[in-house]
Amino acid sequence: MSRHRLGTALLATALLSGVLLSAQDVPSPAQAKAPRRIRRDPPGTFMGRRIAPVMSFEGADWLIRETREQQEQPEAMLDALKIAPGSTVADVGAGVGYMSLRIARRVGPEGLVLATDIQPQMIRMLSDNLRAAGVKNVRAICCTPIETALPKGRVDLVMMVDVYHECSDPEVTLQGLREALKPGGRLVLVEFRGEDPDVPIKPEHKMTVAQARLEVESQGFRFKGSLEFLPWQHILIFEKPEDAPGPEPKRP
Ligand SMILES: C[S@@+](CC[C@H](N)C(=O)[O-])C[C@H]1O[C@@H](n2cnc3c(N)ncnc32)[C@H](O)[C@@H]1O
Repeated sequence: MSRHRLGTALLATALLSGVLLSAQDVPSPAQAKAPRRIRRDPPGTFMGRRIAPVMSFEGADWLIRETREQQEQPEAMLDALKIAPGSTVADVGAGVGYMSLRIARRVGPEGLVLATDIQPQMIRMLSDNLRAAGVKNVRAICCTPIETALPKGRVDLVMMVDVYHECSDPEVTLQGLREALKPGGRLVLVEFRGEDPDVPIKPEHKMTVAQARLEVESQGFRFKGSLEFLPWQHILIFEKPEDAPGPEPKRP
């Protein structure tokens, strides 16, 4: 290989592995599909927060524990969000569908719930639960931390109930969720209160309002407010601004 070609090959390898990329670099068309990570946080952290480990499917029983209704009040949570019949709601990190089944009743037969999770085992249990309940307006979809598997610009509301704090790649996940939302669409994070030491949950499984705002607003969302009537959790409401650019037009 000539010196010139060897140099070009080494440069290409370095670019692809991200070694030479900085925040100012404009991605080339070949890189356009790669996740747009701008930040360089220490591993396992994001904007100064320690990212929680993913809750394994082996602990799925915890998601349907008897005490959950009293502790998390899922119907009151959904009442407060005033979900319109006919709307499209993404239940991201749906687990076994504890929230998806409830949301399905709210959107009704004209609406759609896109229930995603990164663990195929969760998706299998969710699918079994949908079948057992005879629910037809929920799609169970396996996603990844860097690919939300949601259609672009079609979602009215993204819900993440007890999920965001364990997203391993929050920057890329948030960008994907922003793309999936319609302009003016809402992103709702339900998170255990990090400000309250009496909430009996490990610190990395909680969020403060200030930290959530720091992270989510940094990805182009607008903070609309937090609802604080649940016993242990914040309901944090963000919006994709109306003037945000829509999905890129499809090539002819
Ligand atoms: C604590 S469980 C909550 C499940 C469900 N939201 C509920 O309230 O019952 C968190 C779920 O989020 C999923 N998860 C973690 N990171 C995710 C990501 N980046 N995208 C989608 N799901 C994710 C996990 O696999 C797990 O099933």
